[in-house]
Amino acid sequence: MAAKWAPDSWRSRPIQQVPDYPNQLALKAAEARLRKFPPLVFAGEARQLKSHLAKVAAGKAFLLQGGDCAESFAEFGADNIRDTFRVILQMAAVLTFGAGMPIVKVGRMAGQFAKPRSSGTEKKGEVELPSYRGDIVNGMEFDAATRVPDPERQIQAYNQAAATLNLVRAFATGGYADLHSVHRWNLGFVKNSPESARWEDISNRITEALDFMEACGVTPDQSEQLRTVEFYTSHEALLLGYEEALTRVDSTSGSWVDTSAHMLWIGDRTRQLDGAHVEFLRGVINPVGLKCGPTSDPDTLLRLIDTLNPDNKAGKVTLYSRMGADKVEQHLPQLIRAVQRAGKVVVWSCDPMHGNTLTSSNGYKTRPFDRILREVRQFFEVHAAEGSYAGGIHVEMTGSEVTECLGGAQAIAETDLSDRYHTHCDPRLNASQALELAFLVAEMLKKERIRVGTRLAEAS
Ligand code: PEP
Ligand code: CO
Repeated sequence: MAAKWAPDSWRSRPIQQVPDYPNQLALKAAEARLRKFPPLVFAGEARQLKSHLAKVAAGKAFLLQGGDCAESFAEFGADNIRDTFRVILQMAAVLTFGAGMPIVKVGRMAGQFAKPRSSGTEKKGEVELPSYRGDIVNGMEFDAATRVPDPERQIQAYNQAAATLNLVRAFATGGYADLHSVHRWNLGFVKNSPESARWEDISNRITEALDFMEACGVTPDQSEQLRTVEFYTSHEALLLGYEEALTRVDSTSGSWVDTSAHMLWIGDRTRQLDGAHVEFLRGVINPVGLKCGPTSDPDTLLRLIDTLNPDNKAGKVTLYSRMGADKVEQHLPQLIRAVQRAGKVVVWSCDPMHGNTLTSSNGYKTRPFDRILREVRQFFEVHAAEGSYAGGIHVEMTGSEVTECLGGAQAIAETDLSDRYHTHCDPRLNASQALELAFLVAEMLKKERIRVGTRLAEAS
């Protein structure tokens, strides 16, 4: 029998990645203010997302999750939000076609501010300062005063999340998300891509499908599905004082919901079974993600799943495999088998970013596009071999043309990285690279459909 849960029961557990706030009174005061702020999302929306994820777990939908590694106060603005939202929709349109099933769209947006760090301090020359932990905690600039954790930043992060969500909600339902416009943007991308011949087939077939629907009278004026999208938010639930302050009782069910985002995840560095982050997330009704890295072992994974989802409800747990391109085959099969043997219902999604980070010869933290792609491909192949469903991708991306990841059709080279390297933490796919990935994954999904279809036909 699990011990009683409360929004603050995590406080008595061992915890990793805690910022060292020098002024605890100011921290308490900020948390008290946050407790009075309105919820950002509603319990019914989190439940709705959970029901969509249950469909993903059953192999009847596909999860697309993407956005910044770290949202920042400096990059905050309507254009950036619009562009990232737009590229996620563009990716979703291509993936819908490839998968032949609904795409569940979740942004790493409107709250992705806190970052786990490998080291608590950063050293430059003789100077050693606390590491940057995301704009919700301290500032990125390498300066002693800026690096001091400041609780007021939590208030600013909340306000930015609220404004971001407000704009995203308006885009999702106010006409911006019209599938015809989304497809038109994709046509523009295909035309300008060095790989345009490769993508023409998919894009022509989407054009035909839309024309066919229009001829049948299914137009955006009449069909809400063509005009609007359901879009959900997510972030890593790392800064637990902030998450606790936004955790409220859902008046209709009496259950606890973390209203800071629809979906929350536990990172690779904070997934200890008896740790604070697992304790916190086991008590809220939101769907929960869990990163699985090369150090994840099958037994602990099963115990984590049991802790987070004791009733084995579909849609509650999403596992993000983030192994690194060279380690998928070595580590993923045993995790998939353990989950299958124990009969656990989960969504399997691939984060091809966090195991593929390296430092370029000119000193930039970067990720080669071909490694990212290789990890996704291996993820699909391993799932196919194990008879399991590869249900999603989780990517760090942005809607603008930054130069942070190497390669892709634009062939970004090490010497190009300095041109537009804007990230506040990890290197993101730019708009073109993100779309290219979507087209490549659409090809894989189509193959997967043919494989499953052939198997079913042979069996009948
Ligand atoms: C992240 O998703 O930004 C992250 C830090 O990932 P991980 O916990 O898998 O390293
Ligand atoms: Co990251």
